[in-house]
Amino acid sequence: MTGLGTESRPLRVAIVGAGPSGFYAADALFKSSISVSVDCFDRLPTPFGLLRGGVAPDHQKMKSVGAYYDRVAVANEGRFRFFGNVTVGVDISIDELRRYYDAIIVSMGAQSDRKLGIPGEDLPGVHAATEFVGWYNGHPDYQHLTFDLSQETVVVVGQGNVAIDVTRILAKPIEALRKTDIPESILDQLAQSRVRNIHLIGRRGPVQSAFTELEIKEFGELPGIRVVIDPADMRLNDASDAELLTETNTKARKNMAVLQRYLDDPILEGDKTVTIRFLESPVEIQGASHVERIVLEKNKLSGDPGKQQANGTGDTISLDAGLVFKSIGYKGVPMPGLPFDDKAGVIPNQKGQVINDPSVYVAGWIKRGPKGVLGTNKPCSTETVETLLSNLGHLQGCDHPRESEIEKVLEQRGIQWVSYQDWKLIDHLEKENGEKLGKPREKFVSVGDILAALRRVNA
Ligand SMILES: Cc1cc2nc3c(=O)[nH]c(=O)nc-3n(C[C@H](O)[C@H](O)[C@H](O)COP(=O)(O)OP(=O)(O)OC[C@H]3O[C@@H](n4cnc5c(N)ncnc54)[C@H](O)[C@@H]3O)c2cc1C
Ligand SMILES: NC(=O)c1ccc[n+]([C@@H]2O[C@H](COP(=O)([O-])OP(=O)(O)OC[C@H]3O[C@@H](n4cnc5c(N)ncnc54)[C@H](OP(=O)(O)O)[C@@H]3O)[C@@H](O)[C@H]2O)c1
Repeated sequence: MTGLGTESRPLRVAIVGAGPSGFYAADALFKSSISVSVDCFDRLPTPFGLLRGGVAPDHQKMKSVGAYYDRVAVANEGRFRFFGNVTVGVDISIDELRRYYDAIIVSMGAQSDRKLGIPGEDLPGVHAATEFVGWYNGHPDYQHLTFDLSQETVVVVGQGNVAIDVTRILAKPIEALRKTDIPESILDQLAQSRVRNIHLIGRRGPVQSAFTELEIKEFGELPGIRVVIDPADMRLNDASDAELLTETNTKARKNMAVLQRYLDDPILEGDKTVTIRFLESPVEIQGASHVERIVLEKNKLSGDPGKQQANGTGDTISLDAGLVFKSIGYKGVPMPGLPFDDKAGVIPNQKGQVINDPSVYVAGWIKRGPKGVLGTNKPCSTETVETLLSNLGHLQGCDHPRESEIEKVLEQRGIQWVSYQDWKLIDHLEKENGEKLGKPREKFVSVGDILAALRRVNA
C-alpha cells in the first residue's frame, strides 16, 4: 500500500510485550523519519518485562534503566499507547491484530525455562530459577509458590548471572534485602530462611563460566559470606590455557582473577558458605517425597579452545541438599499463529522479519534466544525496525487503522486493560507505599490488587 507512514496515513504498529526490546523497538520507530503510531500490549498490567520481574531487586541502579523506557512512552504521548493486562494469543490473536495494525512486532521474551531432562527433576523442592526470581520480584504469576527455606543446603545448577542472582538473594543478610523492593510478604519468608550452604554447580571449567566479573566479585564484598573453591578445579587443561590467552577473552581472564583471589586470600569469617564447583553435571535428583540429594557426574573438557564441551567421566558423587534451583537458561514459548523453533525457543526470522511474513517481526529474546543484557536489546530492536521500514512498500495496510477500533474490540470482550496513565498511578502508589517502609517501592503482587487500586484512585 502506498502512503503508509505519511502524515495522512501513519503506520500503525502493534508491539506485543512491553519489555526492554518492545520499548527499544518503539523508540527506534519514533526516531525514524516516518509517521507512526504504536500500541504496546503486555499480558501484565505493568510494563518493563524482566527489568521489573527479573533484574535483581538488590541491584536498584540497574532498575533505573526504566526511566529511559518511561521517556519513550511519555515523550510520545499521543502516538504511544500501552494496553497492559492483555494477553496476545488469548485475549486477542495475532490474526486479529493484523486487522487493526499494518505491522506487528512480537517482543514477548522467553517465558519458560530449559529442562535438565534427568530423573527426579520434578521432585518437590526442585525449582526453576525462573520461579524463584519471579517470586522474589513480586511477579503475579509466581506468588502462590513456596520454597522450603528451612533447608540448610541448597544446590544451584548453572553458572550464569541468573544463578549468581539466585545465590546472592539466598546468601545476603535479610537487613540488606529489606532495603530493596522485594515485597514485604516475601521478605517475611526470606527472614525465616535457614539456608547456610549454597553449592553453585558448573558443568564446564572456570574459564568457561557464564557469569561476569562484577557479579562473581560481589560475593566477596558481602558481609558474612565465605566463598569456597577446590584448587583442583582451577588447574586448566591446555585448551583452557589457550582460551584464557585469547586476546578477546577478557571476560574469562577477569573471572579467573576473581576466582583465584578467593583461593589465595580466602574469606575465613562468615555464617554462610558459597561453594563454587566446576566440571560437574547433575545426572539424578533423589529423595523419597522431597529432594534429599543430587547425584553429580564429574566431567572432563574436550574440543578446541573456545568450543570445549563437558563430557561425563562416569565418576559420580552424591551431594545432600534439600532445595535445588535449576538455572540453566530461560526458554521462549510459541505464539499461536506464528512459526516456532522449539529447540531454540525462538520465532524463526531473518533480521527480525518472521519468515515469509512481511507484516510480523520479532525483537529481543524471542528473536535471538535468552541471552544478553538489557542494552543488547537496543541494537537488536533497531535491526528489526530497519527491516520493517525497508519492507514498507510491501505492506498491505490493515483494514481498520482507526485507533478507537481496537479499544472497541477489547471493551466488547470485557477486557480491563491498563493504560500508561494507569501505570503511572500504580508506579506512584508503589513508590509512596515503599517510602513508608524505607524502600524504593512496595510492589502490588497480584493483577487483582492492581486493578482494585486503580478503581479506588479513579473513583
Ligand atoms: C533473572 C534475570 C536478571 C537479569 N538481570 C539483568 C541485569 O542485572 N542487567 C542487565 O543488563 N540485564 C539483565 N537481564 C537480562 C535482561 O532482563 C533481558 O536482556 C531483557 O529483559 C530481555 O528483554 P525482552 O524484551 O526480550 O524480554 P522481557 O524482558 O521478558 O519482556 C517480554 C515482555 O513480554 C510480555 N509478554 C509475554 N508474553 C506475552 C503475550 N502473550 N502477550 C502480551 N505480552 C506478553 C511479558 O509480560 C514481558 O513484559 C536479566 C535477565 C534475567 C532473566
Ligand atoms: N547482572 C547482569 O548483568 C545479569 C543478571 C542476570 C542475567 N543476565 C543476563 O541474562 C542472560 C541469561 O542469563 P542465564 O544465567 O539464564 O543464562 P546463561 O548466561 O546462558 O547461563 C546458563 C548457565 O547454565 C548452564 N547450563 C545450560 N544447560 C545446562 C545443562 N543441561 N546442565 C548444566 N548446566 C547447564 C550453562 O553452562 P554452559 O556454559 O556450559 O552452557 C551456563 O552456566 C545472560 O545473557 C545474562 O548475562 C545479566
